[in-house]
Amino acid sequence: MTQLITIKDKQFRPYLSAEQIESAVKNVAAKINKELENETPVFLVVLNGSFMFASDLLKEVTIPCEISFIKVASYHGTSSSGSVSELIGLTEDISGRTVVIVEDIVDTGITLEKLVAILQRKNVKQIKVASALLKPDSYKKDYKIDYVGIEIPNDFVVGYGLDYEGLGRNLKEIYVLA
Ligand code: IMP
Repeated sequence: MTQLITIKDKQFRPYLSAEQIESAVKNVAAKINKELENETPVFLVVLNGSFMFASDLLKEVTIPCEISFIKVASYHGTSSSGSVSELIGLTEDISGRTVVIVEDIVDTGITLEKLVAILQRKNVKQIKVASALLKPDSYKKDYKIDYVGIEIPNDFVVGYGLDYEGLGRNLKEIYVLA
């Protein structure tokens, strides 16, 4: 029997088990360990949603690395371009470094595109992207997502760091809107 859960006004059903997530995360880590073997990458964990993925992923990463936590804040500036993005929390000098952006989910890719644009201005050696989840039907940007845990349909999900109105981040499985 399907165990529905209620978060605020919505019902969600189990979608990805903790075991399925664990296996996907291990695959991502194995790929990173192989491909970035000769780098000492800086992992930039995009808060808040990526904390759980980052923790599981980085326990499986065996190459030397640094880990930092960032936030992308959007605000409406006075310029005609509208929304402006700013990166909060990055104190390290990342010039010349291989940077791995750690995301919980890539949906339209708007957040990722902004982040990549900011990082490209910092003269990094290369940018790689690791995301626990990707919605390929929603993602319309050209930027390559190098390491994807699980591709999912264009449905709203919660759990494993992802929230619905601030709730559900602590769930160890991923649930989808019922
Ligand atoms: P994007 O800019 O459209 O790629 O969306 C990225 C952000 O939207 C993610 O980092 C999440 O915070 C949020 N998001 C997108 N899809 C979902 C979802 O299905 N559940 C919860 N949050 C989501």
